[in-house]
Amino acid sequence: MMMKMKNIALEDLQPNAAKLIGQQWMLITAGKMGAETEDFNTMTASWGGIGFLWNRPVAYVFVRPNRHTAPLLDAEDSFTLSFLPEQYRADLMFCGRHSGSAGAKLPQTSMTACETPSGLVAMNDADVVLECRKMYVQEMDQQAYLDWSEVSPRYYAEGNPLHVLYIAEISQCWVRPS
Ligand SMILES: Cc1cc2nc3c(=O)[nH]c(=O)nc-3n(C[C@H](O)[C@H](O)[C@H](O)COP(=O)(O)O)c2cc1C
Repeated sequence: MMMKMKNIALEDLQPNAAKLIGQQWMLITAGKMGAETEDFNTMTASWGGIGFLWNRPVAYVFVRPNRHTAPLLDAEDSFTLSFLPEQYRADLMFCGRHSGSAGAKLPQTSMTACETPSGLVAMNDADVVLECRKMYVQEMDQQAYLDWSEVSPRYYAEGNPLHVLYIAEISQCWVRPS
């Protein structure tokens, strides 16, 4: 399926990042698939961005370290972001409410995974796939929040760990031709 996608320049990607990430949501997929090993996981994320840093296109995502996806993200150089059409909303909700630590999620959805030409795992059903090479990883620092009293009860109560920021170069941008 991935073969049917076409490679475009990030500048030509539509819609904008606020819509893609904040409204459409994305699946962050990390790990490997293959004959010997099939150790990958995918999770829904709606926080992040697409931009330009160190003179290259980048994506950045915020992942709590207690997600099953986190150690897989840390173990590999690269990961993918898959953006799916609206008909997969329930599957995205499923992947954002269930953890891969309890067993593979995809068989319980209508989605399947595929390998990108460079060997990363992405969603077959996506209309946009970004291949991302990690460049900067940092746990967010409570001291650096200027509005901690506002943010913490909402997002970091009850021992919920601070997010880890991953900034990655977008090495490939794939879209499904319309
Ligand atoms: C709409 C939506 C957006 C989410 N965005 C994020 C996010 O940006 N970062 C994050 O760490 N978790 C986010 N989550 C929560 C994870 O997707 C959820 O904890 C998931 O079960 C983690 O899966 P895993 O344990 O298999 O990695 C979101 C969940 C939903 C439903």
